[in-house]
Amino acid sequence: MKIVAPVVAMMEKKIASSRMLVSLYSGIYNEVVRNEIKLAGITAGDQVLNIGCGGIPFTALLIAKFTGARVWAIDNDQGAVDVARKCIAAQNMDHLISVLMLDGRDPFPHDFDVALVALQAEPKQEILDSLVAKGGSKARLVFRSPRSEVAHQYDSLPVRPLFNRRIDQKQATFDCSVLYANL
Ligand SMILES: C[S@@+](CC[C@H](N)C(=O)[O-])C[C@H]1O[C@@H](n2cnc3c(N)ncnc32)[C@H](O)[C@@H]1O
Repeated sequence: MKIVAPVVAMMEKKIASSRMLVSLYSGIYNEVVRNEIKLAGITAGDQVLNIGCGGIPFTALLIAKFTGARVWAIDNDQGAVDVARKCIAAQNMDHLISVLMLDGRDPFPHDFDVALVALQAEPKQEILDSLVAKGGSKARLVFRSPRSEVAHQYDSLPVRPLFNRRIDQKQATFDCSVLYANL
């Protein structure tokens, strides 16, 4: 039974009103997101889509802070969307980040150059297929790959096409981020 993803989602919604906890929690992922910026070559000129932003949208926040890129953060849980919007406003980042209630499988209504998909987002193959259909061959798509010890808790990486590159990550739940590009 998958219990980690719903517990993390609930915990994010509960602690998102504390600026200190948001800062501590996001800090854990500084290196992860810096690695993903390098992997996908994200710059200020990119439009970035983050699928599964959760109540504490640390991926969206760190991408915007580190690169200055415009970020669309989406989640299919209205409660998470409401909390994430407040969190982004409290961090004074709403000029760069917009949060939308959408499912990653649905065709995204705006252009994007890069998409980053949360470890907990699913189903990953359908999300990848939708991103490729909308983003075209120029889109750079980043997914996080669960560690084998906890793989039963998460949807596994898409099987087609093969990813192009990977970068190691030192997290308890995922050991690398992978890039799909030139699809
Ligand atoms: C708990 S969050 C963790 C993400 C983390 N805050 C981040 O910044 O990377 C994972 C979120 O993914 C969302 N999610 C799962 N599948 C999804 C999908 N198909 N489309 C959109 N959101 C999805 C869940 O609702 C959950 O809020």
